[in-house]
Amino acid sequence: MKRNIPALLLVLAAAAPAAHAQKTDGDLDATQLHGRQVFAQSCGICHLAPSLGAKTYGPPLNKASAAGNDEVMRAIIVNGTERMPAFKYYLKPADIDAIIAYVRSVPAQVVRAANESKGESR
Ligand code: HEC
Repeated sequence: MKRNIPALLLVLAAAAPAAHAQKTDGDLDATQLHGRQVFAQSCGICHLAPSLGAKTYGPPLNKASAAGNDEVMRAIIVNGTERMPAFKYYLKPADIDAIIAYVRSVPAQVVRAANESKGESR
């Protein structure tokens, strides 16, 4: 379970378009569950590895991302970067808040292990 979180997220995202806010699995609250769903849909293509050890286009995201600063993370999501699209016209502020709440629930070391082959240290 612990080692397989990115793959699990993909499975959950594919299986559960209607599952948000109804059940609480793990320690995620309704907002975080919604954020996980939006994240898998909008960000997973670049930020979730299809399998362990696979490279992703963007860095893995977890509680340490964007220097652990929610406002920095929000700015990145809203405005994008050179290599990442902006989401300000695509996601509602509440969706972005939910994504941040979800990403902050992801422990840093789980994703780091999955991304070792890429040489990321985040
Ligand atoms: C097209 C691929 C792509 C998509 C889609 C994408 N990102 Fe990114 N993201 C990147 C890349 C690449 C970076 C690395 C920053 C850079 O090089 O500009 C990044 C960086 C980030 C960072 C900064 C990480 C850090 O610690 O510095 C955050 C936060 C982030 N993305 C969040 C998101 C969220 C949330 C979504 C969905 C709403 C998303 N991204 C969708 C490619 C993507």
